[in-house]
Amino acid sequence: MRTPRPVDPCDFVIFGGTGDLAVRKLLPALYLRDRDGQLTEGTRIIGVAKAGLDEPGYRDKIQAELARFVPAELLDAEIVERFLARLRFVSIDLTEPSDYAAVADLLASSTVEIRVFYLACAPALFGPICAALGAHNLATETSRVVLEKPIGRDLASAREINDAVGSVFDEHQIFRIDHYLGKESVQNLLVTRFANTLLEPLWNSSRIDHVQITAAESLGVGSRGDYYDRSGALRDMLQNHLLQVLCLVAMEPPTHVNRESVRDEKRKVLQALAPLSADDIKRDTVTGQYGPGLVNGEVVGSYCQDCENPDSRTETFVAVKAEVRNWRWAGVPFYLRTGKRMSQRFSEIVVQFKPVPLPMFPGIEGASEPNRLIISLQPDEEIRLEMTAKEPGSGGRLRPVSLALNYTEAFQDRSPDAYERLLMDVVRGDPTLFMRRDEVEAAWAWAEPILHHWHDSGRVPRTYPAGTDGPVDAATLIERDGRRWHEGAA
Ligand code: BG6
Repeated sequence: MRTPRPVDPCDFVIFGGTGDLAVRKLLPALYLRDRDGQLTEGTRIIGVAKAGLDEPGYRDKIQAELARFVPAELLDAEIVERFLARLRFVSIDLTEPSDYAAVADLLASSTVEIRVFYLACAPALFGPICAALGAHNLATETSRVVLEKPIGRDLASAREINDAVGSVFDEHQIFRIDHYLGKESVQNLLVTRFANTLLEPLWNSSRIDHVQITAAESLGVGSRGDYYDRSGALRDMLQNHLLQVLCLVAMEPPTHVNRESVRDEKRKVLQALAPLSADDIKRDTVTGQYGPGLVNGEVVGSYCQDCENPDSRTETFVAVKAEVRNWRWAGVPFYLRTGKRMSQRFSEIVVQFKPVPLPMFPGIEGASEPNRLIISLQPDEEIRLEMTAKEPGSGGRLRPVSLALNYTEAFQDRSPDAYERLLMDVVRGDPTLFMRRDEVEAAWAWAEPILHHWHDSGRVPRTYPAGTDGPVDAATLIERDGRRWHEGAA
C-alpha cells in the first residue's frame, strides 16, 4: 500500500468520547492512522463526556479499549504510547452550555488551526452542542463538525437538526457521515463503473433485469437495545446505508469526481425514487423481528428479550422493492433488505442481467442461469462476474463460473476500515464521501411515508427465528416476480 499522505495537525474533539462508537470505531481508526504516520505532530484527540474520569483515567480506559478493538498484530507498544500522549479529556455535561468553557480553555491552549468536532452522541444533542460551540466562539472558519447518523427520525426532525447545525456551521463545514461510503468496495464501485468502459453500455434497463442490495448481520442489537428500539431497521440501515449504496449503483456519471458533482448525482437518484403509495407499501415492503433461535451453533434470545421490551413492535428486518424512475432505470426493480440475527453476516450488491434472447442450449442443465455482477462488501471485499461455462467432458452441464477480483489477494494489503478513510477526509476538509443536506432530506422524503403507513395501519413485524434469512414474506416479495434472493458466499 502507498504510504498515506499525512494530514495537517488538528484538534480532534469527540463529544461522547467514552461512548460505544468512540471506543469501538473512532479511537481505533485514529490509532491506526497514527500507526501509518498520517497524524502529524501537534495533533490532539480530545474526549468530551460526562464521565467521572480524569485524563490519566481516560488514557487507561482507551488503552484497554484499543486492546479489545484493534487486532493484536497491529498494536505496537511504542505507537500506542505516542497515541495515548495525544489524548486529552474534558468531563462536562453536554447539555449545560456554560460547561463548554472548559472545552474552550483546552482548545485555546493550542495554536493548531483545524478543529474537528465529532458528535458521537444522540442526535437530540446535535443542536444544543452546536449552539454551545457557537456561543463560545469555537466554530472557526477552519472547523468542521461531523454528524453521525441517524440525522433525525423523520423529515421534520432531520430539517430541524440541519437548521440548528446550519445556524452555526456553513454547509461546507458539515460532514454527515455514512460509514458505508468509506468501505473500500463501495468506493471501488465508482471506479468499476467510471474507470472502465466495459459495463457502461450494459448499465441500464435494456440489459439489467434487477438489482439486489443486502446487508445481513448475524449479530443482534447487543447493548444498543435502547437506541434501536426507537429506530428499527428502516431508520438504522435502509434510509441511509442501503439508499447510499443504491445511489452509487444507479447514479449517472458525474461531470467530475468531486464533492459537488458526485453528491448532485446521488441526490438526483434519491429524488427519482418512485414514491410508494399505501397499496405499494402493503405489497412491496416486508418487516420482521427476530425471535429466539440458533446462530452459529449458539442459542440466542429474542429481540424483545435483547431490548428488554416485551411488547416491542420494532422491526429488526426490512425488505423493500423500490424503483428509480428515470430513463436509465425505469422498470428495473431494486430489492433492498437488511436484518439482524440472520443466518450469516454478508453485505452485497447483485446486479442481475437479462437472460439470453434465444436459448441456444435447450434442455441442458444450467443453461438458463443469468449473468450476475456481484459486489461483495463483506465479509470479503470482492467483485465477481458470474458467466455461464461448460463443465469439462462430453454432455457436461453448464454452470456459473466467476471472474473474480478479490482485493486482499490482488493488493496483498489490509483494507483500512471505513472510518479510517473518512476521518482523514474530514481533517482534509473533503466532503465528497459525506451526505449533503439535500441528500439526507430526499432520502427521508421517500422513506417517511413507509414509516407512517406501518404506524397508521398498526403493522406488526413477522417473527423470524434468529439464524434464518428473515421472514418468509421476504422470499415471497421477490419470488412472486419470478426471481430469488442471492444468498451470499457461504
Ligand atoms: C450502523 C448501524 O450504522 O451500521 C448498526 O447503526 C449496524 O446497527 C452497523 O450494525 C453495520 O455496519 P457494518 O459496517 O458492520 O455493516
